[in-house]
Amino acid sequence: MAPRVLVVARLPTEWLEPLQTAGLDIRLAPELADCHAALCAAAADADAIVSLLSVPIDAEVLSAGALGRLRVVANIAVGYDNIDVEAARKNHVAVCNTPGVLDSATADVAMLLILAACRGATAAEKSLRNGAWSGWELTGYLGKDLSGARLGLVGFGGIGQAVASRAAAFGMLVQHHARRPTGNPGYVPDLDTLLSDSDVVSIHVPRSPETLGLIGSDRISRMPRGSVLVNTSRGGILDEGALVDALASGHLAGAGLDVFDGEPSVNPRLLSVPGLTLLPHIGSATWATRESMTRLACQGVVDVLAGRTPSNLVSAR
Ligand code: DGY
Repeated sequence: MAPRVLVVARLPTEWLEPLQTAGLDIRLAPELADCHAALCAAAADADAIVSLLSVPIDAEVLSAGALGRLRVVANIAVGYDNIDVEAARKNHVAVCNTPGVLDSATADVAMLLILAACRGATAAEKSLRNGAWSGWELTGYLGKDLSGARLGLVGFGGIGQAVASRAAAFGMLVQHHARRPTGNPGYVPDLDTLLSDSDVVSIHVPRSPETLGLIGSDRISRMPRGSVLVNTSRGGILDEGALVDALASGHLAGAGLDVFDGEPSVNPRLLSVPGLTLLPHIGSATWATRESMTRLACQGVVDVLAGRTPSNLVSAR
């Protein structure tokens, strides 16, 4: 009997080609994303789960799976904060993700938000649509130049590095902070120093107990008046209330968010504060990138089930 792979996602089935080629028994079950009890029951009858960042793979799912024959969970995302990795380890379930393949697409969206926030694009477009644009004015819709601005990257993994190369092409002066020295030019060992020395800050760290609330009111207040803050990583790393306060007071000139704490619900205060561009978590949302992510997650499943160590292993069995 072929091993069973539960795919908790709605997707074009050709993206599952690695599973098909390996002759696995594929069960498409996107509806399980909305029913935890049913997901636990299905996990008990599966060898592998392909999941999304919006599907909580918690200790209950993992122990139910381990009582059966679950061997691997592969997230179609580079972030895996929806998976209880510790419980996976305890239950001898491997975890895979999708590093690398979404760096470019996500960095593009970070740049989009940096540009939008620096140039006030969201407010400018709104005024045009509302009929409030009365004509070209020398001092109308003035924003900040990217060229010559200091960009501080919080986190310097694949996505942070892809943002760095794009930003350099715009003439930005790029520096970065990471927990450990990166050996790259522009490394700033102290996060607070990076924040106080940056005109634009872009967040690129995973959500974890260490990064929850990393950028709160105290750290935002260290950023220069009139600076810009962008987050394309995960909600909860940035304190949304503190962001709203800083925009409302004019301490920050603009901001851009692609991710939200508790998404898909969005803090209503974010919807009305000026200077903020909001996107519905579209960082990796291109056809080619989402296909690559799915294929990589599936390849992880195929490798683990075949007893090989996948290139995209987060945690072994
Ligand atoms: C990820 O892969 O973690 C991204 O947030 C998806 O867009």
